[in-house]
Amino acid sequence: MRFKFFRGAGFVALALAATGAMAQPVVTVDAEHLGAQVSPRLYGIFFEEINHAGDGGLYAELVQNRSFEDDAERPVHWKALGGAVASLTTDGMLNDRQAHALRLNLKGLGSGVQNEGYWGMSFRQQTDYTFSAWVKAETAYKGDLIVTLSGADGRNLGQTTVPLKLKAGRWTQIKDVPVRATGSDPEGRLTLTFNNPGTLTMDVVSLFPPTYKGRKNGCRIDLAELLEALHPKFMRFPGGCYVEGQTTPRNNLHNRFEWKNTIGPIEQRPGHLSVNWGYNITDGFGYHEMLQLAEDLGAEPLFVVNVGLGHGWMQPYNQLEDYIQEALDAIEYANGDAKTTKWGALRAQNGHPEPFGLRLLEVGNENANFYFDTNQDQSEHYFERYIQFYRAIKEKYPEVEIIGNVESWGTDEPSWRSEHPVDILDEHYYRSPSWFEKNFTKYDSYDRQGPKIYIGEYAVTQGYGVNGHLTAALGEAIYMQGLERNSDLVIMGSYAPIFVNEHNPAWRPDMIRFNASQSFGTPSYHVQKIMANNIGTRIVPVSVSDNTLAPTIGHRMGFSTWGTKAEFRNLQVIGPDGSVLLKDDFVGSENKVPSDKWESFGGETDGRRRTLSQWVVEDGVLKQQNQRAEGSILLSTTQLPDEYTIHVQARRMEGNEGFIIVFGAEDDENLIWWNLGGWGNSQHAIEHMADGGKNTIGAIRGTLEEGRWYDVEVQVRGATARCMLDGKLIHEFSLPERQSLYANATLDEKSGEMIVKLVNPTRERQITKINLKGAQASQGRAIVLASESGSDENTMRAQLNVSPVEYPVSFNEPSSSVTFPVQPFSLTILRLKVK
Ligand code: AHR
Repeated sequence: MRFKFFRGAGFVALALAATGAMAQPVVTVDAEHLGAQVSPRLYGIFFEEINHAGDGGLYAELVQNRSFEDDAERPVHWKALGGAVASLTTDGMLNDRQAHALRLNLKGLGSGVQNEGYWGMSFRQQTDYTFSAWVKAETAYKGDLIVTLSGADGRNLGQTTVPLKLKAGRWTQIKDVPVRATGSDPEGRLTLTFNNPGTLTMDVVSLFPPTYKGRKNGCRIDLAELLEALHPKFMRFPGGCYVEGQTTPRNNLHNRFEWKNTIGPIEQRPGHLSVNWGYNITDGFGYHEMLQLAEDLGAEPLFVVNVGLGHGWMQPYNQLEDYIQEALDAIEYANGDAKTTKWGALRAQNGHPEPFGLRLLEVGNENANFYFDTNQDQSEHYFERYIQFYRAIKEKYPEVEIIGNVESWGTDEPSWRSEHPVDILDEHYYRSPSWFEKNFTKYDSYDRQGPKIYIGEYAVTQGYGVNGHLTAALGEAIYMQGLERNSDLVIMGSYAPIFVNEHNPAWRPDMIRFNASQSFGTPSYHVQKIMANNIGTRIVPVSVSDNTLAPTIGHRMGFSTWGTKAEFRNLQVIGPDGSVLLKDDFVGSENKVPSDKWESFGGETDGRRRTLSQWVVEDGVLKQQNQRAEGSILLSTTQLPDEYTIHVQARRMEGNEGFIIVFGAEDDENLIWWNLGGWGNSQHAIEHMADGGKNTIGAIRGTLEEGRWYDVEVQVRGATARCMLDGKLIHEFSLPERQSLYANATLDEKSGEMIVKLVNPTRERQITKINLKGAQASQGRAIVLASESGSDENTMRAQLNVSPVEYPVSFNEPSSSVTFPVQPFSLTILRLKVK
């Protein structure tokens, strides 16, 4: 039985575009043997203060450097107006938590300051903004403060006058003054001017737009709603490395997140420097606000505590009393009785008398490390630290589930190397799309008697395009299918990181991108969303057959580099009969490539890449001259046959790595490359890139000398190749077949729907037969995330370029066998009503 489609024009176009050879997999969904319950906590979120995720992002405060603590020398992000002199002062602070304030010498009418916000402030017409500040006069001051919402071009977009009558030397609070916007600007400013001369000191100057759920000191609505749409079951916070902190040579502090400094009135929060992610934090979005947000999202809070370890610092493991007490107090703050406990009472005072219900606590972030070479603990006694927290917490709060760290970097097989009890283990994976694909079955063989597993952080971070493409997202989707199939064991998972303010990225990719006024999700966001919103309650066994495809091999060769200048000469490509298929002596190209023999991808004219190549030809040598270029590719325009041998000489010049020979290429996202002297000149490797996703086929240790010419030979025989360096065989390999379709299923016992999830990471349309063993489907819905190319992305200008569509599907009569055309590069979720 075939589905009938009810779809818009977009779908038809997509279906017609898929003209490639079709694979025809068969998916058997065994409704007769239902498996375990799907973990009710499976999909959650991980909020870390990184990339201005909080300050300048989710935390709705519009004023940047509101407490004047961002810089000890100057009031950065503030500009003096109308002849005013603006400087920092440390005299007569508002309280002992504030180290600096703004001293303003005013000249009279129009004199004042302006704040630029976090790369602008978004003002919307007919919206009320809330202004607050603390102010003090040196000598008695009478006059008006004029609070103006300004456009980037200086237009007045709304104004309020605040009469001031200040006694000398006394701090006065200007509290919650509404300012209505009469116009809109996505990149506005806050202007504060006065009408009388005088000397004033200001601190904690704040402007809030309306917030998510109307919370005071709350969240930016569009960003919180993007989180809400994920229906997260839990929220891990506040990091990440952010929990650990980091020292700098100039700053000997640990700079870690200390929750007690992040609660109460905002003027009581000193803020701190996040050295990890490179900016000053107000701590306005503090422990209380994070607990509050989790509650508002309907997510269980999961708090990560510091174990006395950070980047560049540590507290001896036998002196952890304060850290343990801090963790116990955090639990009491979240859960303690409002009347009988100290911290519970403070929570109530801060506006939340009911407990937050914190039951998930993680002891450390990425603090269990191990040297596999020497079989030694390198974590600075993580397990000795861990057990002290575990005992103290379980003794007082036995209901709290404790999450332990396992190795996060350097191994695919992290494990709990300790006898100590633990409820849940937190694994982290930042890998390539093909790694995630391969690990579809990772948890099938895990020990079911051991602790439960939480995938606390994961994302495709190698081969993801510019900001995250569809192929990357599909790799994650396949991995998530694997989590669902094993969610008796893997009970929780959260993608990382969530947010990036596009003006200040510290980490790529991130699943929600924003600026002051706009926000959108990458394809990874949409994967998270539709997977989480279609989760089901029971695991259903699934098997798939006929789902392999031969690898696709292109017919071009070329060159590339990675963080290094490199040179190539004497190129010849020879056919099986000895004929010369391609030859270039690299002369006569007017010092410029591409000539018509070459096409440059990621070169100066390609705006999509972050780092650009500079290919030139000089004296018979092809040179890539931009040391910063990473993976920009020069491809021959000559189409080569299936079999050929490349002969070329190459040498590495300035930079940390070697050079790269490309072959079997179709374009810059479908190719094989031999990366010589990769990974900081430590390895030679064959890497296969398919639709933007990169996979290492084989690697060996190896280095290249700088400036020395090497003879390179690559014998290409279809999907098989031999790679020789100075006549010595280095690699011999065949590209493996590709799995063309990944499937899993769950039953939603409430709605009676069989949820079948299908991921097709290939460019081929798959006419898929779904056999429902022991069930018949009568009608349903399809939710499809697809695009024409795996390298398609969303951008600020094309925010929904890759986004899911949903449509009904129906059958002529109930059936246990349905055929469905699964689109190329797609995640398809079928919700079938079954009996
Ligand atoms: O998610 C970004 C970082 O990756 C987190 O801070 C850390 O836990 C991991 O190393």
